[in-house]
Amino acid sequence: MKTIKIISVVGARPNFMKIAPFIEAIKVHKKECAASGLKLNHILVHTGQHYDVSMSQTFFKSLDIPDPDINLEVGSGSHAEQVGQTMIAFERVLRREKPDWVVVVGDVNATLACSVTAKKERVRLCHIEAGLRSGDMTMPEEINRLVTDRLADLLLTPDRLSNENLRKEGVAENKVVFVGNIMIDTLEANRAKAADLKIGTICIENLIGDSTLKLSGLICKKYSLITMHRPSNVDNPNVLRPLIHFLCEEVAKDMPLIWPIHPRSQKRLQEFGLWHDVLKIRNMILLNPIDYHEMLRLNMDARLLLTDSGGLQEECTVLGTPCLTLRWNTERPVTLRERGGASVLVGNDVEKIRIEYKRTLASERNPMRPELWDGHTAERCVRAILEYDKKTLLPK
Ligand code: UD1
Repeated sequence: MKTIKIISVVGARPNFMKIAPFIEAIKVHKKECAASGLKLNHILVHTGQHYDVSMSQTFFKSLDIPDPDINLEVGSGSHAEQVGQTMIAFERVLRREKPDWVVVVGDVNATLACSVTAKKERVRLCHIEAGLRSGDMTMPEEINRLVTDRLADLLLTPDRLSNENLRKEGVAENKVVFVGNIMIDTLEANRAKAADLKIGTICIENLIGDSTLKLSGLICKKYSLITMHRPSNVDNPNVLRPLIHFLCEEVAKDMPLIWPIHPRSQKRLQEFGLWHDVLKIRNMILLNPIDYHEMLRLNMDARLLLTDSGGLQEECTVLGTPCLTLRWNTERPVTLRERGGASVLVGNDVEKIRIEYKRTLASERNPMRPELWDGHTAERCVRAILEYDKKTLLPK
């Protein structure tokens, strides 16, 4: 029996919801393949870039992802440290396991490190979420995307604009398959479970600081939601301070503002002496990082969402939550209002954010489903890998 051995890689929080449906689809295909004399072997590698329970294990549990077969435990560090240590450890894995494929998702440092290592070890590379481009080379993720796509043998894209980006860069058409957005597989599979959660319980269970005072504001159902962790927004006090003042003095005046806070942002607020200012605002509901279902639940009913996360822009598009994207550009233009999505770019300039905030408060939920964001992307990903092998390997 011929065996195809696939190693898939995760490293950071946004990878987990992309790999969950892929692993599920592998399971389904395993049976089909066995019937036609093909053995599918899958190994999950976690690089350990995110390691806090709330940034990692929680997602494995709630999304039913099997424990990683291998954890490289690279942890935090500078970009070079993270990438370098991942490459050293992943090279050992590849030499031992000798897989046919390495599958990477998204655009984090784990994606880049394992892509480079795979190609240097002459292992075929598949990138799920290929072709996204912000054009912003100051973002580490853009560098990770460019390198990964340049190296990949099989590029699986979430939308047609990504195919167009790859075509302009000269990527051969036969390496690119439009499969849709794998994040939406996870959203659709978990929507009903999320809908059963209670907003108040989510806040009580994850609240940072004094509970009684803060949660009384949530009795009225209207609230807004924020996530913010990009270096461009949180690492410079001259950018972060005015943003925080706007959030505390304007948004939190209008309605409760729920903020599940990334460890990086919490550290910066503490370093810049802003942490206690935020904590004492009654309508500012600071939460520890929450799990996938909790975030989905909060998103479902939020009056509006402010975010610098790419994944949330996509989820807002499908749920219809009006979204202010705290960035000057996006690699996900399909989520923008001008293309029928729910998001508008506001950067980190308070004047601009204020104008759009007021405009957005008057707007309605407007769900939209881009082509092939249908909950079946993972199946198409596995099929594309098997087809590739059929075309390039079996005729020999
Ligand atoms: C990474 C991704 C980013 C993604 C984000 C989601 C890269 C280049 N960036 O950014 O694209 O949107 O994940 O979270 O890969 N930390 C902890 N515990 C953890 C993980 C991180 O405390 O489990 C703290 C550490 O201080 C660390 C900092 O957060 O130095 C930043 O973590 P890192 O993985 O370097 O980047 P993120 O900002 O999380």
